[in-house]
Amino acid sequence: MGHGKAQGEQKRGEYLDTFELNKFAGAILASLLLAMVLHLTSDAIFYYPKPAKPGYVIPVPSEMAAAETKKEETAPAVLPIEQRLATADEKKGEADVKPCQTCHNFEKGGVAKMGPPLYGVVGRAKGSAAGFEYSEAIKSKGKAWTYADLDLFLTNPKAYAEGTKMSFAGESDPWKRADIIAYLRSLSDNPEPLTPN
Ligand code: HEC
Repeated sequence: MGHGKAQGEQKRGEYLDTFELNKFAGAILASLLLAMVLHLTSDAIFYYPKPAKPGYVIPVPSEMAAAETKKEETAPAVLPIEQRLATADEKKGEADVKPCQTCHNFEKGGVAKMGPPLYGVVGRAKGSAAGFEYSEAIKSKGKAWTYADLDLFLTNPKAYAEGTKMSFAGESDPWKRADIIAYLRSLSDNPEPLTPN
């Protein structure tokens, strides 16, 4: 009998063990299900349609850090044009305006070509050279050409003045732009001061 009882208890023990195990498995399954349901409902609650073209991508921190270092490596902060002008080389600028000469005259008293004559352009009212038909884009800018405005225009003419007639892609090198602007500044009987204008 005793033997039988022990066997019975053992059986019950085994049964309980399996039962315990099943309870565990059940609990795990239940929490997995719960997680899934939560995930699905949160997706449903926070659902927003993905734009065809993402307006922006939110970088994850590691990408952000990588982008930051990359930015530092490839594109150091650009100094303001007034500071770049302090060490700019107008002789280099004279060489750098070769591509501009197809369209621009740099001589004193020079006439318009495909573009307006540029002698004395620094400090001159925008779009004001006599005998040149400027676009509205330039004429509507108003004020005189400052170093900063020239720097912006020469970086990307179309970005500065949407609809400009100047079909020139732009000079992306900030130091070359400074040399060019230093050269433009020298094209005057009375060059503008180098301090911010
Ligand atoms: C393909 C011809 C072309 C090239 C190359 C070109 N330009 Fe121009 N540029 C023009 C035209 C056309 C205008 C008049 C823009 C307008 O009216 O929208 C102009 C306008 C300008 C103005 C404004 C002048 C004013 O009187 O308001 C400046 C400054 C200027 N260009 C500088 C340069 C420099 C510097 C370069 C070379 C780095 C250059 N451009 C290359 C055609 C050109």
